[in-house]
Amino acid sequence: MPIVEWLDGGKLLRAVVPIYYSEDCLVCHGNPKGILDMSGYPREGAQAGELAGAISIQIPSDHR
Ligand code: HEC
Repeated sequence: MPIVEWLDGGKLLRAVVPIYYSEDCLVCHGNPKGILDMSGYPREGAQAGELAGAISIQIPSDHR
């Protein structure tokens, strides 16, 4: 679930959105862990549904 909240007494709006692995991701992030994927980075051994990361943005309300 995304989290959207005002911080600092309304001076800052923050949004955090979790990202989960789907089947599509496992060709590069799945098993076997450690072998290189097509982009040359090691696979993480993840499974579909696991938390992969999050996008976090902060917007100051006085920005023009
Ligand atoms: C074609 C290969 C490929 C596919 C498909 C892929 N990724 Fe990635 N992903 C990468 C590479 C390469 C990196 C950078 C790895 C590193 O820095 O170690 C990365 C990094 C990430 C990161 C940042 C991890 C970190 O610790 O900084 C996340 C989160 C992520 N991927 C999620 C996903 C999700 C979710 C999907 C599916 C919707 C996906 N990826 C599909 C190759 C892929």
